[in-house]
This record gives sequence, structure tokens and C-alpha cells, in this order.
Amino acid sequence: MADIINLLPENIANQIAAGEVIQRPASAVKELLENAVDAGATEIRLFVNDAGKALVQVIDNGKGMSETDARMSFERHATSKIKNIDDLFHIKTMGFRGEALASIAGVAQVELKTKKSGESIGTYIEIENSLVKTQEPVATNEGTNISMKNLFFNVPARRNFLKSNASELRHIVDEFIRVAMAFPDLFFSLSSNGQEVFHLEKGSLKQRIIQILGNNYSAKLVSVKEETDYMNIYGFAGKPETAKKTRGDQYFFVNNRFIKSAYLNHAVMNAFSEMIAKDSFPMYTLFIDIDPSRLDINVHPTKQEIKFEDEKIIYAFVQSAVKHALAQYSVTPTLDFELDASIQHTDAVSKPFTTEKQFSATGTSLYKTFTQKNQAHFIDSKSDLGKWDDNLLKQNQFVTAKRDLPGETKFDNENAFFSPFKNTTPPLVNKKPDSEEYIQAHKSFILAQNGSGFVVIHQQNAHERVLYERFTEAMKGKPIAIQRSLFPEAIELTPADAVLLLELLPDLHILGYLVEPFGNNSFVIQGSPADVPEGNEKNSLEKILEQYKHFNMDMSFSKREKLLRSMAWQQSVKAGTYLSGKEMQVLVEELFNCKINNTTPNGKPVFLEFKKEELDKMFGR
Ligand SMILES: Nc1ncnc2c1ncn2[C@@H]1O[C@H](COP(=O)(O)OP(=O)(O)OP(=O)(O)O)[C@@H](O)[C@H]1O
Ligand SMILES: [Mg+2]
Repeated sequence: MADIINLLPENIANQIAAGEVIQRPASAVKELLENAVDAGATEIRLFVNDAGKALVQVIDNGKGMSETDARMSFERHATSKIKNIDDLFHIKTMGFRGEALASIAGVAQVELKTKKSGESIGTYIEIENSLVKTQEPVATNEGTNISMKNLFFNVPARRNFLKSNASELRHIVDEFIRVAMAFPDLFFSLSSNGQEVFHLEKGSLKQRIIQILGNNYSAKLVSVKEETDYMNIYGFAGKPETAKKTRGDQYFFVNNRFIKSAYLNHAVMNAFSEMIAKDSFPMYTLFIDIDPSRLDINVHPTKQEIKFEDEKIIYAFVQSAVKHALAQYSVTPTLDFELDASIQHTDAVSKPFTTEKQFSATGTSLYKTFTQKNQAHFIDSKSDLGKWDDNLLKQNQFVTAKRDLPGETKFDNENAFFSPFKNTTPPLVNKKPDSEEYIQAHKSFILAQNGSGFVVIHQQNAHERVLYERFTEAMKGKPIAIQRSLFPEAIELTPADAVLLLELLPDLHILGYLVEPFGNNSFVIQGSPADVPEGNEKNSLEKILEQYKHFNMDMSFSKREKLLRSMAWQQSVKAGTYLSGKEMQVLVEELFNCKINNTTPNGKPVFLEFKKEELDKMFGR
């Protein structure tokens, strides 16, 4: 039989390999910005057109490349940053794999202009589909100017997978922020379709955080700073009152590299526990500096996942450093700093230290705080969701649903797919209260009698369900009426939020919000749904965005679904609000007209039922 194995041509091999590094325009943004940082640039400008689909261009004033290096830079495994395998464990640069430019050149049209400092002439290279089309001398500024055009022009299937411009731009902004946040002493700008979205002057980390996340944080940051021989940690955490519904503003950098780590995030959350409401997320921007030999950053091609030599010790440091910072700023005056001798037996602390070092390390406040019992290595294995399930089970002991009652429709589990909770409450069909007298308890619950007993309805959950179904109908062609504002309010957002809001405008319009972009990340609210009280439009819109970002973490929802849920939540009448008899009656009536009335869109129960016969039994009758 003939041999069947071929070696793939280089450009095809590059296209395949590019898939890991370059998934979307934002991946190229990350790689090109990191190259500029590695080149020692102090000013880095990013330009994108069409959310990077047409153009991603980075201009830096870094050290530039020689003619030969410029050509070499597009070869796979060509790097100036490491020479041998040992170097891999002493990495100080962002790049080291030598494959970013090769990948980009494999899936786009690239133009590079670069000149080394002191040279009179630079080099121009045009390369597409891994093939060099032009290479010639060029007059250019010192540094590098690289453009990636028409990403995936030669891989249409990939190009089709790209999301809407608004969504791709959001990814770009995320990557831009991650690099810009890590290097506050460098100038960064981002322009999209010729309009400057970010202009970040050099400054301190605190200034950079405020430039990016907004002025709201200016008096609300707590400085985190601890130094030991093992590692340093520094940065800022938001005071507890700034915690938001979304975890968007949380950044971890290890040796200046943005990383994603649920584990370290947990450490910070633990430090904040009891200080912030459940389901809310504190802002933090934390930098860990650690000997690179204690890390493996080559776990994933995008380098956003890393492995620590000893994760637990890092967890303990992070948690106690944050806790200590919060305590120092007397955010938590009652913290108890009890010492625990067991820390001295932790390998990572005791082994690399001389006695002298150990002595000085034990003097630091960090050492003292992270030795607190039950905190250093303690991870709550029982998630909140688990507790929820337990609660539901307990509640349902009272419900004792009898599914075989005549006339009872079968449990419609449509929502269970979205629900993290077990959907165990039977629907309220045929349980409609037969009396129109409703009692409101604790300004949160509506008590109503029905044929078989009585029901306790959670007013907010019920309203969320009603609104959700109303909005879903609106999307099917019955837009919510817009009430024009007499005095339109302006709303100013962070660049990232502005991009997000732009993406949502058409759907928001159907749902009753008439919002117009006003340039410079501001918008004007021209109209809002009739139920939103006059003067409250701005606040409601901000809350919707906040909640939307919260849902954004869950990729299983469509954009529209997330918006519907956010709005239903935002506009629902909150627990603690007095309802008149008439209002209760309307709410219960509307709840009955819903297709599903036993759960909120997110799967929380809407009501509990107490059966008369069960109650009788309990009273010995
Ligand atoms: N903006 C730039 N200024 C100067 N030199 C650059 C620039 N961009 C790339 N280079 C040079 O080209 C080489 C290849 O870049 P490339 O991004 O492909 O690989 P890398 O940065 O070494 O590793 P990684 O694939 O992990 O990013 C770099 O090692 C560097 O020497
Ligand atoms: Mg690189």
C-alpha cells in the first residue's frame, strides 16, 4: 500500500496552530500589546477598525527590530526572549513562546514597520497567509508599527464564528484593560474607528485604576501591601461598600501577567466574607511578585492560567494580606489576630529560609495574620448553591405537593434548564386564591387563602416572574410603551460599560428605554418605560447594566435573555416595599396569567403552599 502520511505545508500548519493563540481580534490585541511592552516601549497606541475584524494596529516606541529580526519574528518558535529550557523558569517578559506573530501572519494580512533606535532606516514587511509579499527599507519612526488586517480572511469558517462588532469590541477592551492595568507607568491609548476610547497617561497604579474603572473608586480604595522573602503582594481593594453585582472589576496579576484564578479569587472573597452582601463582588487589582521559578506559566497558550509551586501558601498570603489591609483601614475593627504556631511547619515558609530570614519574616504583619486558625488553608467546600438546595428541601417538607389531585396540571419544568436550584415547587395553577383579601407580612410576603389552604407569595419573586413574561412578550412584537422624558438625563459610563450599553440599545428600545449615544462614553436617556418613576431613569439603567454584567458571566444565556432577566430583576418591587390591597390584587392576578408562576426566571420559588389538612394534622385535628 502506498504511504499516506504527508507533512503539512507551513502555512496550513500555521493556520492550525494559530487557532490556539488567535481566536478573535482581542487575542491579537493581547499579543501585540504584550510585544510592545516587552520591547520596552513607554507609549503604546492601539487602533482598531470594525472591532478589530478589519484592523488591529499597535504603534510603540520600543526598541524596534533589525532587518533580519523583523523577518525572523514571523517564524514559528522564533523568539528573542528565551534561549533554553531553563530560561522558561526565569521569565521576566510577557512573551516567550515565539509563536504569536507566526500565528497572526498565518491567519491575516500583516504589515510591519520597525526601526531600531539610532538607525537611519527601518524595515517594511508585508506578509499574508504566512507568505512574505514585500520586504524593503522604509523611513519610519523608532519603534514598531504593526497592523493586522482582515483577520481570518483565509479561513472563512473562523471568520463566521466571530461575534457582533459590539461583542468583539468588548473583548478587545477587556484585553486592553488587562495590559494597561498592569503597566501604569506606560502610556496607553485605544481608538476604535478613529475615535479615542481610552487615553491613559502614565501615573501611579491608583491613578490607573481610577482612569479605567471610574472616579467612583477615588476615595474608596484600600491599599494592600505585604512583603516577604517568599513573595510580595501589592495593589488595591475596593472598600466593602463598593462591592457590585458583577465580578467585572477583579484583576489578578502575577509578575505583571493578568491571570484567571478562581482559587485566588476565593481567597480574596474569603477575606471579605461577612463584610459584603452575598452575591456581591468587591473590586480588587492585586499584583503578586514571586520568583518565576516558583511558577509554571506555560500551562496554556494564552498564558492566562498558571501553576504555582505551592498554591496553598499563595492562597494564605493573598487572603491575609487583603484581610489585613481591610483591618488596617479600620474597615473591620473587630478582626481577631490570633497566632497559630502551625504556620512554622509549612514547607514553603520554613524550607527556603535561613533562620535569620525566618526571624525577620515572622515579624511582618502578614506572617501574623495569615496564621489565623481555619483561615489560611480553609476553603468552604459547601457552595451557596448547595445551601440553597437544602433550604428548598426543608421548605418543601411543608409543601407536600400532591401531584395526583384532580385537575392539577403536570409540573412544567421549562425553567429548570436555567435554574441552578432544584425546581421542586409545584406550579400555582388551580391554587388561585379564592378570596380577594390579601395580607402583606413584613412588607415582603403576600398571604392569601385558597381552597385547600393558603399560600405565601414572595412579592419580589412574583413580580420578577410577571415582568419577565411581559418583557418576553414585548420581544415577540409588542414593544413596551416609552414615556418621553421632559428633562432627558445624561449618563456617563466607563469605556467598557459604554461599549456594553451600545450593544444593548436596540433591545432596550423594545423594552421601553430610548437611549441615545452622545459621544465620549456618555448617553442621553430620552425615554423610559412608564413604570419607571420619573427621575429614576439613570439609576435604573445603571442597575440593569450591573445586573446584566452579572449574568454575563454565564455564557449559556443569550444576550437578550440576560437583558430580560436583568430588567425583570431591576424593575421588580423589592422586598420591604409596602403594597396596597389593590396592588397586591393586581400582582396576584398577573401572576396567574403567567405561563409559569411557581419560579422566578432564575429558578427561585415564587410561593409556598400550606395545606389546610396538613395544618389540621399539625394541630392534632
Ligand atoms: N513590538 C515589537 N518590538 C520589538 N520586537 C518585537 C516586537 N514584536 C515582536 N518582536 C520580536 O519578535 C519576536 C517574536 O514575537 P512573538 O510575539 O511572535 O513571540 P514572543 O513574544 O517571543 O513569544 P509569544 O509567542 O509568547 O508572544 C519577539 O521575541 C521579539 O524579539
Ligand atoms: Mg509575543
